[in-house]
This record gives sequence, structure tokens and C-alpha cells, in this order.
Amino acid sequence: MENIIIEGGHPLKGEVKIGGSKNAALPILISALLTDGWNTYHNVPDLKDIQSIKLLLSTLGAKIETDGDTVRIAADGLCNYEAPYDLVRKMRASILVLGPLVARLKKARVSLPGGCAIGARPINLHLKGLARLGASIDLKHGYVEASANRLKGNEIYFDIATVTGTENLMMAAVLAEGMTVLRNSAREPEVVALAETLNQMGANIKGAGTSIISIEGVTSLHPVSVSIIPDRIESGTFMTAAALTQGNVRLLECEPEHNEAVIHKLKLAGADIKIEGQSIWVKGPDEIASIDIKTLPYPGFPTDMQAQFMVLMSVAKGLSIISETIFENRFIHVSELKRMGADITISGNFAMIKGVPALSGAPVMATDLRASASLIMAGLIAKGVTEVSRIYHLDRGYEAIEKKLAGLGAAIKRVKA
Ligand code: EPU
Repeated sequence: MENIIIEGGHPLKGEVKIGGSKNAALPILISALLTDGWNTYHNVPDLKDIQSIKLLLSTLGAKIETDGDTVRIAADGLCNYEAPYDLVRKMRASILVLGPLVARLKKARVSLPGGCAIGARPINLHLKGLARLGASIDLKHGYVEASANRLKGNEIYFDIATVTGTENLMMAAVLAEGMTVLRNSAREPEVVALAETLNQMGANIKGAGTSIISIEGVTSLHPVSVSIIPDRIESGTFMTAAALTQGNVRLLECEPEHNEAVIHKLKLAGADIKIEGQSIWVKGPDEIASIDIKTLPYPGFPTDMQAQFMVLMSVAKGLSIISETIFENRFIHVSELKRMGADITISGNFAMIKGVPALSGAPVMATDLRASASLIMAGLIAKGVTEVSRIYHLDRGYEAIEKKLAGLGAAIKRVKA
């Protein structure tokens, strides 16, 4: 086990390169299951979740080669249609193999992911959609068993705009017979990146990035070479950390357009932000203004940035309200932030944050990926030393965050617990 130790009080200054997006890379690497031949993916981040998906894909029979941030995958030898519990429980996104396996091998047996720290996170909409494409679905012994001779295009309406649900159904429908229309689809940039990859493989998908996606099925796809889009949550986290520490940071190789909601809110909090092509320059304010946040599906404010903004609000002047509308249990970081002196009251899915002059360093425990980032950020401004434990959550989604922060002047190190 490892911990991260931070000595607060050092403003972040300098340049930081943003890596490839975890949540774009996961479905895109999985889309290799849909074809024979070697696919090449550039700018793949080196993360625990990426290692988990590579392990799952190789368990299914795919061949994988990694060279730096380039990953090559060939699924010619696809032989196994089972995603076992041990792998799926480590990473919920493993459920994304369901659609491609049924489309390619005509059957799939995938462990049900179960609950997670931030909410129940059911997959009912993935399963309802797959059934609408003609798959027969059974839930047995904790597994989803799905089969279909050839999936048939159909109209699918999502009760809730689900990111991985939209991605799963898109991957199932590309090889289906006829036209599929996904209504109330997720509009996240990661959904668009997957649709663009599938189209480069020979699929016929229109409307990705809007709530109505139409997919004309084709009989086969071919391999591709694509580059993973920049991680908008890593960008958002560094921008917020820069504002929080009264820093002066330039983010390189990011996609400002994907971060509009975060940029807008940071400006309201007083940050000075300039965009120059693929880089964003953030200068923190002398005094952080309080702001209200409501998490929403894209292009609304991302739930994956809620915990980090809560830290910013915890030292803002005045009262801020955060309303979390995506996940029912995504305030677990609050009790740890309170141990560092934050003044936060929770009522249902609302958090009321009364800004305090300063936080104080303390031993704290990470509970999920984005909560971990928020605790590290709190440590950056706290008086004294903060030790964050259970950082394996952090390693799932942030590549070498302590090295990047140290490069910007933070006093931070990883130690053996
Ligand atoms: N939902 C259902 N039924 C379903 C699917 C979703 O009720 O079948 C509900 C969820 O419980 C939630 C809402 O719909 O209340 C939206 O969830 P969504 O399905 O969009 O989330 P996801 O696809 O499981 C992805 C990201 C998350 C991110 C959310 C929301 C990946 C691999 N994960 O999850 O990322 O928070 O979208 O934007 O893309 C993270 O990176 O830290 C992370 C949690």
C-alpha cells in the first residue's frame, strides 16, 4: 500500500501536459473486439483502469502490445465470451464488452458489476437496449448471459442519458442488421470519440454528440489507427488546482472546448483563464468567490469535477451550494474534507459549503477516484501536512499525478504505507 504526503502552501506554477482520456480510451480499446486485424491506439494513458481492460481483453483472447503510450490490439483469436467477476468487480467499465461480444461472437457472459462507492449504478438500460436489438438476456448466478444470432436494428429510448449505456449499444448496433436509432443518448465527448473511431472502422454512425444517434448496421469492420482525445477531467482537475492555490499554470495538449462548463465556473470564482489553441492558461484569484454548481450530463457541469470544486468552494468567500444530480452517493469525500476543517452540510443531494479562511493538514482516506483528487487538492492548500491513504483509487484515473504536481512546484511525494 502507498500513501501520498503533501505539505500545503505552495502555489502551482509552470506547464503541465494533459494525457489521454481514460473514459474515451476504455470503450475505444474495447471496440477492437469488433474486428480482425491489428488496431493501433496512440496517446493511451498509463492507468490502472487501462491495465484492467487490457487484462480483460487478453482473457477474451485478444492479442495486445504496448509501446509507451501506443497500444496495439488484435482480436482475431477471440475465443472466450466470458468476462469474469474478478475482473469486472475491479472496473465497472468492463460491462462495455457486452455489446461487442454479442455483436461479434453472438453470445456473451459478463459478470454484473454490482454497486460502487458513488451509487448503485444499475445497468438496466444497457440490458433493455440490447433486448430491443433482439438479444435474449438472462441473469444467472451474478452474470448477464446474452445471445443473438444477428442483432437487429431498432429504436431505443434511454430513460436516462447514460454514457457507457450509449457506448455499449452503439458498439452492439454497428454490426446489427438494419437501422438503430438511440434516443436521449449521452452527448459526452467520449461518446463522440468512440463513434468517430467506429466510423473509421467502417461503421455508419450519425448524430453522435446530439441526443439522437442513428446507426446503419454493416456486415464487417476493419482495423484503425486513432489517437485518444485529451482527458477533460484531468484538465479540469489541474485548472481547479491552479485556481485554488493562487497558481499560474499552463495546461498543454488539452481540448478547451470539452471543458467549457468548468472554465465558466472557474471564471465566476475569479480565475483568469486564457485559451490558446490546445492550451489553457489559468491564473488563480487572490480571493476565491463562492459559486453554485449543479452536476448535469454533458455539456452541463461534470459530476467527475464535483469533489474538486467542493475543495475550491471550501475556501471561497461566502456560501456555495452544490447539487449532485447524477449519482446518489457522491458526497463521501465530505467527511474527510470536514476533518481538514471544511464547513460543509449535506442535505439529500445538496451540499452547503461555508467558505473558511484555511484548511488544516490531516491524515485522510481516499474513497473513490475523484474524491482522491479532491483530497490531494485540499492538501495543496492546507496548513501543515496531509497524508492521503488508499490512493489505489487515484491510480485508476490519474497518470503520475504526484509527479505532475511536483513538476508544478507542489511539495508532494508518494511513500510506502
Ligand atoms: N443509470 C441507470 N441505468 C443504467 C445506466 C445508468 O439508472 O443502465 C444511471 C446511473 O446510475 C447514473 C446515471 O444513469 O445515475 C448516469 O450514469 P452513466 O451510465 O452515464 O455513468 P457511467 O456510464 O457508468 C460514466 C463514466 C463516469 C462518469 C459518468 C457520468 C466511464 C467509464 N465512466 O459512467 O466516470 O462519472 O459516466 O458522467 O465513462 C470517473 O471517471 O471517475 C467516473 C465515475
